[in-house]
Amino acid sequence: MTTPFKIIKKSNGLCGSVTVPGDKSISHRAVIFGSIANDITKVTGFLPGADNLSTIAAFRAMDIKINIVSPTELEIHGQGLHGLKKPTTIIDAGNSGTTTRLLIGLLAAQDFTSTITGDESLQKRPMMRVVKPLRQMGAKIDGKDDGKLLPLTITGSKLHAIDYKSPVASAQLKSCLLIAGLYAEGTTTVTEPMKSRDHTERMLKAFGVDVLVKGDKVSIGENRTLVGTTINVPGDISSAAFFMVAAMITKGSELHINNIGVNFTRTGIKTILEEMTTGVGFETKDKTNGEEEVADITVRSSSLKGININGNKLLPAIDEFPLLPAIDEFPIICVAAAFAEGTTRISGAGELRVKESDRITAMARALTAVGVKVEETEDGIIIKGSADSEGLIKGGTIDSLGDHRIAMAMAVAGLASREGIKIRDSGCVDVSYPDFFKVLGEVSKTCEVSKT
Ligand code: S3P
Repeated sequence: MTTPFKIIKKSNGLCGSVTVPGDKSISHRAVIFGSIANDITKVTGFLPGADNLSTIAAFRAMDIKINIVSPTELEIHGQGLHGLKKPTTIIDAGNSGTTTRLLIGLLAAQDFTSTITGDESLQKRPMMRVVKPLRQMGAKIDGKDDGKLLPLTITGSKLHAIDYKSPVASAQLKSCLLIAGLYAEGTTTVTEPMKSRDHTERMLKAFGVDVLVKGDKVSIGENRTLVGTTINVPGDISSAAFFMVAAMITKGSELHINNIGVNFTRTGIKTILEEMTTGVGFETKDKTNGEEEVADITVRSSSLKGININGNKLLPAIDEFPLLPAIDEFPIICVAAAFAEGTTRISGAGELRVKESDRITAMARALTAVGVKVEETEDGIIIKGSADSEGLIKGGTIDSLGDHRIAMAMAVAGLASREGIKIRDSGCVDVSYPDFFKVLGEVSKTCEVSKT
């Protein structure tokens, strides 16, 4: 189902402060681990986006009581590792890859049979990456195309541990296997080619589980009992990224972004933008928030320069930056590149083709439609800075393809466009940031007021 369009017009700057909603990855895990913990888990800063509501609905269907105390506060009545009941319905994960892949690992170890499916986009996304290693652990999973695609039917079984060398760096895959490993006989170990976001490891530790981490290798230890706790979810750096770039590309901006999660597996966007800016950058104030670090950031209008970004590189080289800790920020990095002086080359980013949309093609089409010079490659994109002498691109109409991050990235581009940008099917922002357009309008207005 497509939703209405939005038009984003040229802004005279973004001012004031923004507190972005809770981290999507951490919010999912809080619900999953709270549900299989003993006793009550309290969650603050929860993201009430459509994806996270799909996770709540799945656990409610498995008889877990989850009180939504306020939109951002939950009280989860965990029933322990073996307390889930056979779901009353087919589990519908909507648009959420994280709900799906993490739940497949959990469902594989239960003593009931369940079926999981999702929307049109999710039904196209690859599931064999989790089905294959789970089958090696003894899981019984049937589905479309031998289990490559949703819907999948999972017959819970007794699992045994594996030592899995993952061919892809994916936190969803790693987390799926670690969750299955909570139930498996023996020690489950996952080694990744590059370290992906580590929220599962950190949060399982906060719930009292033994998790052993050595570089890119993670194992589930002896103690697997989760004890209810309080999880304070920090703001999502992937949502903050839209405001960082928005403030940089609109003249006359000074924007404070508060309480952002700055776990080092997620701060690639900061590294990349700092390399692209020649002007004033970030001021971070590190605090701690349970198992995750947080910071406040101030971003001002800046001139940007094109750089090379390689998704296959873990450590920053002199002139090349890694993409993995910024994988969800690809669309907004493309927008930053459109406003940079010179050319930005992104390579080693093939994973982007199997996200909520094929994000390489989606961004190539969207940017071309608004007057940016773009060349799509097999595993990336080459973007020529296309802003005019006043720092503006032309503008036009784009299709979000129902992908929340494409809609938000192109809305940001609209703030520095001559003709404005019309975004078709803009309602998809509900997946991760339901108030995005409202907040964007408010900080634009604050700037106009503070200048008069
Ligand atoms: C996520 C992991 C990433 C990311 C997604 C959320 C998670 O996906 O793109 O938005 O919460 O584990 P992959 O694991 O597929 O890289």
